[in-house]
Amino acid sequence: MEYTKLGKTGLKVSVAGIGTGGNSRLGIKTGKTTKQSIAILHEAIDLGINFIDTAENYGSDRIVGEAIKSFPREEIVLATKSTIRNSDGCLSADEVICRFNSSLKRLNTDYVDVLNLHGVKPEEYDYSLNELAPALLKEKEKGKIRHLGLTESASCDPHHTVIEKALKEDIWEVCMVAYHLMCQQARNTIFPLTQNNGVGTLLMYAVRSIFSDREYLKETLEVLAAERKIDPALAVGEPLDFLIVEGGARSVIDAAYRFVRHEPGVDVLLFGTGNVEHLKTNLSSILSPPLPQPTVDKIYDLFGHLVGVGLDMPRFTS
Ligand SMILES: NC(=O)c1ccc[n+]([C@@H]2O[C@H](COP(=O)([O-])OP(=O)(O)OC[C@H]3O[C@@H](n4cnc5c(N)ncnc54)[C@H](OP(=O)(O)O)[C@@H]3O)[C@@H](O)[C@H]2O)c1
Repeated sequence: MEYTKLGKTGLKVSVAGIGTGGNSRLGIKTGKTTKQSIAILHEAIDLGINFIDTAENYGSDRIVGEAIKSFPREEIVLATKSTIRNSDGCLSADEVICRFNSSLKRLNTDYVDVLNLHGVKPEEYDYSLNELAPALLKEKEKGKIRHLGLTESASCDPHHTVIEKALKEDIWEVCMVAYHLMCQQARNTIFPLTQNNGVGTLLMYAVRSIFSDREYLKETLEVLAAERKIDPALAVGEPLDFLIVEGGARSVIDAAYRFVRHEPGVDVLLFGTGNVEHLKTNLSSILSPPLPQPTVDKIYDLFGHLVGVGLDMPRFTS
């Protein structure tokens, strides 16, 4: 495993982090038993992954809590997220703190290394900064939160306006940003700032559905070609097969992980899976060298202008 520092938090983190959300949720959503989900986390930790990303609303907290019991707590960098809204609007600070305390119980711990506000939408940012963050800072003073951050709501905010605003405030030490082969906006707008400000950067959406579902990828390329947003030749034949070259990527998924992993400014690449074989293959991709430079240049050239592609919500909402 390779490790790096999570920006100014100083936390030593594995460059690959296991996410317990997305469409797999450690297999919870694909029929795996709790025992199998715990085994995935144990395998990840045995392979050197020390960063676990969970959230109040993933339904995976108890599994994470059970899995990390077998390890000294200080060997795990545990990040969770607070839900900030319900169907009536933004939650009060008291409600957010109350829910956070319940998460800690489910996680079998008395502190988290990172607490992110979950999927902050542009219209929720000011409330998050002015009402929620001060309350969370009090929990930080009590030692329940080591570092505070936020994650964007990628599908609502493809230009990363929330993260861009957040990077003007010292209060947020960590952020989570969407970035992938066909969604490269953060490269010019966000990563220079996170590096400059020392904000720990977690990356999501490297593969998601667009690169794990061949038909979805093919349809996306066809739509983009019909809208004249990409070269129509890309919509013909096996999708993105130009990525697979001698000395380069072994598959589209391999390329997708390697492309984002080596982007300057990315600290932890999050990926989710409910499948032990995928865990191992993905880790091998994430720890592989960068794609050949001509391939990287071609990816910038073909897709660098696209906005908001492949940022779908999870298929499961609870
Ligand atoms: N706003 C937010 O806060 C937010 C939003 C999105 C994600 N996240 C975090 O980021 C983490 C990663 O999410 P993501 O959006 O990047 O998506 P992801 O969960 O990593 O999605 C990858 C998908 O591809 C499949 N897959 C993985 N490896 C594969 C392989 N080698 N071959 C074939 N299929 C493979 C997985 O299913 P299998 O089970 O079959 O492997 C999964 O459904 C989440 O778990 C969550 O922690 C946070």
